[in-house]
Amino acid sequence: MNRRLITTALLILCVLTLQAKKDAVPLYKRADAPVEKRVQDLLKRMTLEEKILQLSQGLLGGNDNANNIMPDDASMTVSPMIGSVIYTSTGPQQRNALQKRAMEETRLGIPVVFGYDVIHGYRTIYPVPLACACTWNPELVRRCCSVAASESRASGVDWTFSPMIDIARDPRWGRVVEGYGEDPYTTSVFAAAAVKGYQGDNPAAPDKVAACLKHFVGYGASEAGRDYVYTEISDQTLWDTYLPPYEAGVKAGAMTVMSAFNNISGIPATANRYTLTDILRRMWGFKGLVVSDWDAVFQLIHQNHASDKADAALKALSAGVDLDMTDNVYQDTLEQLVKEKRLSEDVIDEAVRRVLRVKFELGLFENPFTPDTPAALLTPESVKTAESAAEESMVLLKNEGGILPLKNVGEIALIGPLVTDDFNLMGPWTAHGQSSDVKGLLEAFKEEFGGKAELTYARGCEYSGTTDRSGFTEAIAAAQKADVIIACLGEYNNWTGENASRASIQLPPIQRELLEALDATGKPVVLLLVNGRPLDLSQAIEHADAVLEMWQPGIAGSRPAAGIVSGRINPSGKLAITFPFTIGQIPIYYNRRSPARDPNQGYYQDYPVEPLFPFGSGLSYSSFDYGNIVLSADRVDKDGALEASVTVKNTSERDGMETVHWYIQDPVCSVSRPVKELKHFEKAMIKAGETRTFTFDINVKRDFSFVDRHGSKILEKGDVYIIVKDRKEKVTIE
Ligand code: GLC
Repeated sequence: MNRRLITTALLILCVLTLQAKKDAVPLYKRADAPVEKRVQDLLKRMTLEEKILQLSQGLLGGNDNANNIMPDDASMTVSPMIGSVIYTSTGPQQRNALQKRAMEETRLGIPVVFGYDVIHGYRTIYPVPLACACTWNPELVRRCCSVAASESRASGVDWTFSPMIDIARDPRWGRVVEGYGEDPYTTSVFAAAAVKGYQGDNPAAPDKVAACLKHFVGYGASEAGRDYVYTEISDQTLWDTYLPPYEAGVKAGAMTVMSAFNNISGIPATANRYTLTDILRRMWGFKGLVVSDWDAVFQLIHQNHASDKADAALKALSAGVDLDMTDNVYQDTLEQLVKEKRLSEDVIDEAVRRVLRVKFELGLFENPFTPDTPAALLTPESVKTAESAAEESMVLLKNEGGILPLKNVGEIALIGPLVTDDFNLMGPWTAHGQSSDVKGLLEAFKEEFGGKAELTYARGCEYSGTTDRSGFTEAIAAAQKADVIIACLGEYNNWTGENASRASIQLPPIQRELLEALDATGKPVVLLLVNGRPLDLSQAIEHADAVLEMWQPGIAGSRPAAGIVSGRINPSGKLAITFPFTIGQIPIYYNRRSPARDPNQGYYQDYPVEPLFPFGSGLSYSSFDYGNIVLSADRVDKDGALEASVTVKNTSERDGMETVHWYIQDPVCSVSRPVKELKHFEKAMIKAGETRTFTFDINVKRDFSFVDRHGSKILEKGDVYIIVKDRKEKVTIE
């Protein structure tokens, strides 16, 4: 009997001891407690000063990124109570030094979250996002983002300021390179793929990071393609064009959003309660944090929207911007605003909850430090993923006389400033990409054609800003000896990206002159383009028999480019953005609305109406015959569904990948709709001679409805057309 009593007593003692120990650990530090309870528990322990510092983002580290230059000892000067820093160092050491101070020298031990612009790769730089969209392969893009997440987290970055999902229809705007093109549906699909790649199913995992949907919202509508400026966006256009990718990203579980620089029809995005709170939080239920763009809170003063820093802070925080990037405006003004009763501490509390929630969900309280072991960068499989993305992103725009793939050529002249370049092939926002990681075009062509053709190289000219034609003589001599000329021309990587708007989107004059001189030799010319935006090729296109748009492919694009020229690779990329015939046509995009007059009126009298290369353009070495669209029903009710299918036959002798784009057209709607709207796409390999059936499972409400200027979905009875290529079938909604 005694033995049992003693045992029971001991057990009770153990339980009480464990419970006492558990009680001694504050709830917010208990990993087994629900996140919301941890947030609440921590928040109630915080002082106003501690709360305000959590809403500030500073800078830490140093690299050559013009945006983020910092002294290397900053980890000792940044407050350990700060909410977040933009972390630009190449390894976790500085991060861990600051984090150690945050965990051990502060009263509550709240970890810092470290963000960075990992836009298309951390060290394994894959193609620029605009190129990635031209793969029409979301799974591949998800894999690229997963590689970026893994390299980032292992290097001390918990949070990437990506994906950029601003719809852009004006290639004068440098940031067109950072997004997924002109179409809301396409960008929505890639937004979700990127979020899944970055965050996975558990963003606390050591190879995942928080994603950031940016720049919320409408930044791509920047007037005349200038950066940071006013954007005239009606509520209708806001809802039917600029918001859909963000709704998709939020649905995909994005943990953060970045507020934009632009002024949305009078209310700057960073002080816009309608977008930041009414839409993002109340309509979509977003629970993550909103970070401002760089100094964007302070810039409300420049935008004639705030009288001073305190006013700017009050407007931004009240609108829904939780974390203030780099201008210290919240840090400098919020306490006084509370003291003056101009700001309720409840508003601060809600912002702090969102910041803490992200930190808990990233697992930073349990794992605040990055293991100080060499990160697995540039692994063979990571580089292979980057190469696959480059391969599938390249778009064969022109191939007159089937000059490509090259056949029976004895001598190839590689000419142009891009042939031996490396850094510029990576494009802008190169994070920790290194020029030494880039395989250049000359090396790749030598590998590709070694033993098959003689290669000569001549630079020909510089990128731009010169009338020096002294290199032409050597280039022309090389061309005259060769059977074919590969002209490698394009842009510097900083001609696109932030603050990189250009009033001309043509190739620079000296490059155009070189191309004309090469064409004048009478030899076939293949133009390889390395650029980050649609170019005005109106004065170049006639001087090239073939044009391969290779974009800025990252570190592993040269082999695919050489492989497409040789025929080892069958090109499969298609444009996710329109190439205008000339800059005068801008804005020009496929999903425009019909004009009042019939097509031969109201357009330019001096230039063609159509673009040079429309959205969806892209040639293959295979040839594909499309069957007619087959519908499972031609009458449906509003809650209905139907299946549309089309057969595609590869009539060539080459296996080839084809992307089928499914559009809908609603000719009569209470809100007039675009001439057609992409609603589904599917890319698949079709073997030579094979016929493959592509299917679009249509949900009437999802795929046929439209959105009005209040964000309400509208679906009206009447006829809707389903379009694939030039095939069109009618469905009647009853
Ligand atoms: C920049 C960019 C934004 C970037 C941020 C941090 O100004 O607009 O895209 O994420 O600042 O570098």
